[in-house]
Amino acid sequence: MQRIVVIGAGHASGQLLDSLRRAGSEAHITLVGEESWLPYQRPPLSKKFLSGELTAERLAFRPESFYEKHQIHTRLSCRAVSIDRDIQTVSLAGGETLAYDLLALTTGTRVRELAIPGAELAGVHYLRGIDDALGLQADWQGRDNVCVIGGGFIGLEVAASARTLGKNVTVVEMMDRLMARAVSPGMSEYFLGLHTRNGAHVMCSTGVSELLGTDGRVSGVRLSDGREIPTDVVVVGIGVVPNQELAQEAGLACDNGILVDEFARTSDPKIVSAGDCTNHPNSLLGRRLRLESVHNALEQAKSAAASLMGEKLAYAQVPWFWSDQYNSKLQMVGLSEGFDRAVQRGNPDEDKFSLFYYRGDVLIAIDSVNRPGDHMPGKKLLAAGISPTPEQAADPEFPLKSLL
Ligand code: NAI
Repeated sequence: MQRIVVIGAGHASGQLLDSLRRAGSEAHITLVGEESWLPYQRPPLSKKFLSGELTAERLAFRPESFYEKHQIHTRLSCRAVSIDRDIQTVSLAGGETLAYDLLALTTGTRVRELAIPGAELAGVHYLRGIDDALGLQADWQGRDNVCVIGGGFIGLEVAASARTLGKNVTVVEMMDRLMARAVSPGMSEYFLGLHTRNGAHVMCSTGVSELLGTDGRVSGVRLSDGREIPTDVVVVGIGVVPNQELAQEAGLACDNGILVDEFARTSDPKIVSAGDCTNHPNSLLGRRLRLESVHNALEQAKSAAASLMGEKLAYAQVPWFWSDQYNSKLQMVGLSEGFDRAVQRGNPDEDKFSLFYYRGDVLIAIDSVNRPGDHMPGKKLLAAGISPTPEQAADPEFPLKSLL
């Protein structure tokens, strides 16, 4: 019987396993995951899970019974440490080896760690997995002051959750604006206003030089300009790095991620890879990129599963993302980087607006706040390469759907 080993138990692997069995794969499948959890939904961790509205069981991608029913052998709390491509084996921490005929790498990313004095103090948290969220939840109970380092998605979603729980929140962001990696200056400005209005203290263009401690526990943050902020808890969200070392050490081509083609195939025909850890081509965008998003993980995993089944399903989609902060739902489609004109539709003062980004006459991306009616047809317009005129985009009454 054909043996498939899947390393990494995140969104991509959950989808990959589902797609394989749906497509009728009868392979002997083993899932190796270093966390103690079966694949689960990560987005709620910084939102409803953190604020206590969801339990861990509700996060599961598929219930435990799915793995039993589909005879997927799970090896959790288990780390793969090396791959021998010549004899087609994966070595696990502890010394055991698993033989494979086909291998899938869905290893995702890990948090970038803060490299300053005091970073190891108790009370300093990162947020990537369920265990991180449980640790943060337990630790900030009964503590009032939270300092968030990094004003990206994690930092701002955690800040909103902490404010919702009534904590005093300071956000320290190194760049001159929030979420600079993902959104335009106009959108950053709206979110700065949103957080400020909700009582968070946001400091942009501010670095952190040291975390200060008392009896082994964090008690303050020293900023790069020398100022000190007292705090009870620190949450660090300064980005992620791809888990590509396993692949790299096995001699697979990597460059800011594991290099794959549009069919999620690595440089070894027996190995596919999908999700945050890959660097892949996107024919719609005309370039390679590495994406950190659920949509990417799910859709690329479908291509990886097809490749494992000996079929070809090209992955070429317009990227989309979302973020929930307070009552504002930000939905992003396309990549706005390199735009030369942003057209506003709707009213930021009413927390309902979109920005349509153009390069020349061509629509390249749309960011929407509480306007799903722009986001949904926007996805289709971008996929079809149809650009509304800036005048049509600016008119909230103009039906975008009519262009499809
Ligand atoms: P990020 O890349 O979105 O944001 C990191 C932020 O930290 C940036 O604004 C950066 O300028 C700042 N930064 C970097 N070094 C710093 C320093 N030393 N001091 C102060 N600020 C510093 O990454 P983030 O927020 O950590 O998120 C991690 C991952 O989780 C990403 O892949 C992200 O896409 C994903 N995520 C996605 C969400 C969504 O799509 N809604 C929600 C939460 C996380």
